[in-house]
Amino acid sequence: MTPELKTVHAAGIRFGVVDEGSGPCVLFVHGFPLDHGMWRPQIDALCDSHRVIVPDLRGFGATDTTEGTVTMERFADDLAELLDALGVREPVTLCGLSMGGYIAWQFWRRHAKRLAALVLCDTRAAPDSPEAARGRLDTAEKVLKQGRLPLVRAMIPKLFAKTTREKNASLIEDVRRMIGRASPAGIAAALRGMAGREDVRPFLRRIDVPTVVLVGREDEISPVEEMRAIADDLPHCEFVVIPNAGHMAPLENPPATNEALTALLRRLS
Ligand code: MLT
Repeated sequence: MTPELKTVHAAGIRFGVVDEGSGPCVLFVHGFPLDHGMWRPQIDALCDSHRVIVPDLRGFGATDTTEGTVTMERFADDLAELLDALGVREPVTLCGLSMGGYIAWQFWRRHAKRLAALVLCDTRAAPDSPEAARGRLDTAEKVLKQGRLPLVRAMIPKLFAKTTREKNASLIEDVRRMIGRASPAGIAAALRGMAGREDVRPFLRRIDVPTVVLVGREDEISPVEEMRAIADDLPHCEFVVIPNAGHMAPLENPPATNEALTALLRRLS
């Protein structure tokens, strides 16, 4: 079943959001430059036992775009306002992938009381190096002038494990289509926001909710050793390496990802 995307007004814009099921709330936050569709296998697995909330972030999918820069802090505040608009008062489990993880750190910094647990998939705690930040700003200009195609060409090969590239062409096509739904201005705004994001490594030891750090064994963007170092710093952390997966572990290997997620949710219940 394709989950229904509803329109919700929050933070002064219109959000496209999947809001399915009832029970303890799990909020999924997609990576760059994707949308709610990347969490389809997790929505299917959890919506019978949980309330699953899966927004398109500002500038992506069906959500409105704002031009300029969208910081990780702004994205995190958007999520808090969206939860208010949906009437969610109880603490949620927030599961973010990559840019969704950068946003998750800021959600903890700004809205810690709203968190029951955190799941950090294929993400980083370190900021961009000056060269990486400059590269992002250049890419933002290029996308505004030339459209999404150069970004799609540069990103697709880095997102997936070898097995996915060889055996799952339809999944890669789905992701290509997802990137095609993001607005160039939204892509540029998020790139500028990521370029200026905070170094959250000094705060990791203070995160006192249960955490799961999950990484695809073949992730080239946030490699296993870098994610293990994050897990080592988090006080209540389970570290999970997902086989046959790269940066898009939840899509590339849903059974292993869902097992780690449901184990956490069972521990919380
Ligand atoms: C993502 O998947 O969200 C991106 O790889 C994040 C990034 O570019 O740092």
